[in-house]
Amino acid sequence: AQADIAVTGLATMGRNLARNLARHGHSVAVHNRTKARTDALVATYGDEGTFIVCDSIEDLVRSLKRPRKVIIMVQAGAGTDEVIEQLADALEPGDIVVDGGNAHFIDTRRRESALRERGLHFVGTGISGGEEGALLGPSIMPGGTAEAYQTLGPILESIAAQVDDTPCCTHVGADGAGHFVKMVHNGIEYADMQLIGEAYDLLRTVLGKSTEELAEIFRTWNSGDLESFLIEITAEVLAAKDPRGEGAFVDVVLDQTEQKGTGRWTVQIALDLGTPVSGIAEAVFARSVSGHAEQRQAANGVLEGPSTKITIDKPEEFVEDVRRALYASKVVAYAQGFDMIRDGAEAYDWDIDLGAMATIWRGGCIIRARFLDRIREAYEKTPDLPSLLVDPYFARTVNEGQESWRRVVATAAAAGVPVPGFGAALSYYDALRRDRLPAALLQGLRDLFGAHTYRRTDAEGSFHLDWSGDKSEQEA
Ligand code: 6PG
Repeated sequence: AQADIAVTGLATMGRNLARNLARHGHSVAVHNRTKARTDALVATYGDEGTFIVCDSIEDLVRSLKRPRKVIIMVQAGAGTDEVIEQLADALEPGDIVVDGGNAHFIDTRRRESALRERGLHFVGTGISGGEEGALLGPSIMPGGTAEAYQTLGPILESIAAQVDDTPCCTHVGADGAGHFVKMVHNGIEYADMQLIGEAYDLLRTVLGKSTEELAEIFRTWNSGDLESFLIEITAEVLAAKDPRGEGAFVDVVLDQTEQKGTGRWTVQIALDLGTPVSGIAEAVFARSVSGHAEQRQAANGVLEGPSTKITIDKPEEFVEDVRRALYASKVVAYAQGFDMIRDGAEAYDWDIDLGAMATIWRGGCIIRARFLDRIREAYEKTPDLPSLLVDPYFARTVNEGQESWRRVVATAAAAGVPVPGFGAALSYYDALRRDRLPAALLQGLRDLFGAHTYRRTDAEGSFHLDWSGDKSEQEA
């Protein structure tokens, strides 16, 4: 046995991860259900490092040094269970199975517990960064036991993106913690993309900017606080031309956003945890709205827009307002995402270091952004920060941006441009900072129609009002 690690499943992500491992001096046993893919990998990239071609899972297991480490890179779903089963039969106690797909963390918990009973380690691992990240350095979010990380961690850290000489990889927490954090990462990714889409729509619709001008605006934004991978590639997509004609690429793309489901999972789980991830939820729903082509067609021309056209006196100032609104809304989306990680950690008994999550998201992943350094600092300074929004830097950012934010949301409403992301983020901000919320009235309603009781601001205990009688108060 000579291989340091194995990869099974050699579609784009698996292939690039195997190459990344080989390029970093690890000898990699490679396997794919259809052998042609394995052969193609070695034929094309064989000189990048040491690859050991394996025809079967058994072969793969035989080729590995102990404890054996096998990374599964098959498409998340039922296929994963099949591969795990086959591997578990061939492996020996102490060996480590890594699932690098976008698995649901509940599945990961189930798999981890089943393999633990057989003496095997199961490490559900989030890997972000797409094809290029897998090859050149992704952000890696491994769960599982600390013991497994001790053996596996150094290899993963060697192939991860590096920022300031720190690898974008750390042990997230037990069992499904890695996949949970990856899920929230994707939820934030959805929110971030939705906000970018709204900023683009506003500037284009309200100011009538061309796609070239918009590409330039995003390029400029990318040199400030907003600097991030998503803003950078927004400029690139906006600047792209239709490969079949003269116009802009973005204008020939069907306007229905698809999804593989990780954003939806984030919201489903957030509902169970009770974490208000309104920015992520609006982003998921906005994708659904875009996909309801029949409804959109039926409403187009039937539902009216504003009767007067909005004119903006100072376009430059409006661009700056949108930039600030985007940054403030983005801060809210991340704040909500980090809240969700904290709540998930509590619910599932994981010891997750929030600052470390910001640290490993600084490079490699899709949501990598300059301001993650600020998030890292905020949690390092105050690990039990109640909300990112109250960290001095972020509080200042949203406070300074709030007037712009309000103007943008108001202008959007007046112009008939949907801004569910900006709007939800601003409402969340206002809800958090308000003295009193209409929740009190809702409690009154619940008590009236269902005797659900209410608590008082000035006394302990729960109470019920005799609504149909003399309106006296009883202790519940
Ligand atoms: C990543 C991406 C990756 C994938 C998304 C796309 O972190 O590298 O998030 O996991 O591209 O799952 O998600 P949708 O297809 O749901 O938009």
